[in-house]
Amino acid sequence: MSQASANLSPDAAVHDAATRALIEAGDPAADGRALRRCLGQFPTGVTVVTARNGERLVGMAVNSFAAVSLAPPLVLWSIRRESSSAADFLQAGHYAVSVLADDQVALSQLFGSAHPKRFELAPWQAGRHGAPLLAGAIAHLECRLEQVHEGGDHLILVGHVERYARYEGTPLLFTQGAYGVAQELPAPATSQPAAGASAGQSESELLRDLIHASQRLSHDFESHRQALGLTLPTSRLLNSLAEGAGSAEELARATLLEQDEITDGVAALAQQALVSTDKDRLRLTPAGRERRAAIAARADDYMKQRLGGLVESDIAAFQRVLQALGRD
Ligand SMILES: Cc1cc2nc3c(=O)[nH]c(=O)nc-3n(C[C@H](O)[C@H](O)[C@H](O)COP(=O)(O)O)c2cc1C
Repeated sequence: MSQASANLSPDAAVHDAATRALIEAGDPAADGRALRRCLGQFPTGVTVVTARNGERLVGMAVNSFAAVSLAPPLVLWSIRRESSSAADFLQAGHYAVSVLADDQVALSQLFGSAHPKRFELAPWQAGRHGAPLLAGAIAHLECRLEQVHEGGDHLILVGHVERYARYEGTPLLFTQGAYGVAQELPAPATSQPAAGASAGQSESELLRDLIHASQRLSHDFESHRQALGLTLPTSRLLNSLAEGAGSAEELARATLLEQDEITDGVAALAQQALVSTDKDRLRLTPAGRERRAAIAARADDYMKQRLGGLVESDIAAFQRVLQALGRD
């Protein structure tokens, strides 16, 4: 979700496509995780799908949600057959979809886990059939379960939309194993220059720009990570371990990574002998500390290069903004 190339000419697009490096390819049966990474190239939104089955509430983060038909109004999503809530969703006969906004990553993580107090921690209101509608979502769709299709290790639940509501806000996105925000393509070269644009910007627009800039920087920094045999998850893990986080729980909190990414990332670091385990706690090996120092030095140089043109008063203003945003 970094900013797309400003050059929108067809020639440039063809050229980019021709020079894109292959990362991996193969038989899905041989490596399911690689297939998952490939599917992750397709970006989705994030929803929380909920239902009430008698006295029981069920809800889970879902990114397989899709629109199917306008007339009749149909949507679908798929649930892992092994999911502990699959039977409840089938029996409930109705489900509700809350489309998450870009400030609801924490909710996605809460409902992406098996947390027993999900519905006590998240504010919601009951829909017409009792399924929770999460507060702060940018859309609610209340559906009657109409068809269930076999889908390999998943079941596909087609719902007839009985009621919808759309709210202001922008969606949370999920792609390449990470959360992101949508960003419009820059206007073609004929558009007005950006000069003075910040004058009329609201705080929330500035904040969104700051988030976009941070995502763009992280994306541009990828070649440095690759040069050191790291990925975004493994370098985040190295950083957190250098700060002292050690248990799986602490790492999840400090890195905001999904459990899978932590498992894969830790395995990749262990394979390179950058971490060792001691009584369920991970720690950096001397080689790990060296690698962390190397990536930190590169990040330092990179940021100096990007921010080199700023005068002291700009940096001071930037620090005040970070403080207002709650940096430690
Ligand atoms: C962003 C995101 C999207 C997800 N999408 C789906 C999905 O489409 N279908 C699914 O079965 N599980 C999906 N999950 C996983 C479930 O949310 C998770 O397995 C569930 O909440 C845990 O309960 P369970 O293990 O009993 O299913 C997703 C998780 C996240 C974080």
